[in-house]
Amino acid sequence: MSKFARRMTTMEKSAAVIRGLFGNMNDPEIISFGGGAPAKEALPIDIVREITNEVMRIDKRGVEALQYGSVMGLPDLREIIVTDLLAPKGVKGTVDNVMITNGGLEPMNLVCQLYIEPGDVILVESPTFVHSVEIFEMFQAKCISVDMDDNGMIPEDLEAKIIKHKPKLVYVVPTFQNPTGRTLSLDRREKIAKLGSNYDVIILEDDPYRDIRYSGRDLAPIKAFDETGHTILASSFSKVFSPGSRLGYVLANDELIPKLFDSKTATNSHTSTLSQVVCAEFFKRGYYPLHHKKICDLYRERRDVMIESIDKFFPEGTKRTFPDGGLFTWAELPGDINTTELLLESINKPDVKVSYIAGESFFIEGGGMGNNCMRISFGGVTPEQIRIGVEKLGNLICSKLISFPKLKIVNG
Ligand SMILES: Cc1ncc(COP(=O)(O)O)c(C=O)c1O
Repeated sequence: MSKFARRMTTMEKSAAVIRGLFGNMNDPEIISFGGGAPAKEALPIDIVREITNEVMRIDKRGVEALQYGSVMGLPDLREIIVTDLLAPKGVKGTVDNVMITNGGLEPMNLVCQLYIEPGDVILVESPTFVHSVEIFEMFQAKCISVDMDDNGMIPEDLEAKIIKHKPKLVYVVPTFQNPTGRTLSLDRREKIAKLGSNYDVIILEDDPYRDIRYSGRDLAPIKAFDETGHTILASSFSKVFSPGSRLGYVLANDELIPKLFDSKTATNSHTSTLSQVVCAEFFKRGYYPLHHKKICDLYRERRDVMIESIDKFFPEGTKRTFPDGGLFTWAELPGDINTTELLLESINKPDVKVSYIAGESFFIEGGGMGNNCMRISFGGVTPEQIRIGVEKLGNLICSKLISFPKLKIVNG
């Protein structure tokens, strides 16, 4: 057999984590706080059926939907992105600055094609989204982490690391971050955009959760503060429309778009026209506002039940985040509980059968970082399942902490 390319070994660790994430996703006996998929109730199945029935005709958009399409994507969907989704957030740009991608992850791949040589440094949050790390490592980049607190990536540490490591990219998930649910504060958004401009570094802003905010004040993306074109904005329709449609987008300045065009052409020519037609019609026919309200109401209720249940059933000294949107909270446990080991028990014990993602998967440093943490997803579980699952998980955790009685929670 031929030898595998070096990139297959540089991405081994992150790839193993990703494979693990899908491991018990379909086990019906397990209450899963693991995956990051939207609720099944949040998928607009009936609307999509109605749209498809209507547009899949020769005299409507049938040919367009089933024919080859343009590399950049359908103009009407790009127009919707510019006018309906980005302009209200203060992001300037025209249809020509937007390219439709295969889900929200593809922009990471395309941007790496533009910039990353083996050994180049990418600065990432600590903890960060492991799927993007897998892509960065496939390009043989060296990921180095930047400290975070409850207000997101810390600009002072970022600046020090830009000076020290001369990175090609800074990767940030600013809103309801995966895995922590934290949100980068407004002043830090502005500072990070300026650091990109001042040090001539690309800021890769990955913002797929921005549109599922169900409490708190909306914040302008980092891209809204970018005056030099150093910030590239990536986002996705996966959480607000459907992940199976594999639709995302990237917004970049005039100079970068032709390069992204070339890397997209060389990668997969274009994104599914069928998905794009249906998604564009979903917005153009005015379905989005009501659908958006419905999913925000649904996730708000699940967030509230999750937080209430964690506060009730997890032991004293637990810290957890309170996300104003998105699908995750992050818990840091007291004592010396190892959440990777606990997960095996939690999944396999017949009276528990609850899954989550162990925290250490999200830290690129290794060395035990995050091994008392867990990412808990509430998007795909009903309020009832949340109550039952958190009680079982909390009881398991408390049984490991005999010296820590169940007391009141300390909020993170
Ligand atoms: C931080 C982050 N970026 C990007 C994505 C992109 O997702 P998709 O490719 O499914 O649109 C996700 C999805 O879970 C995510 O959590």
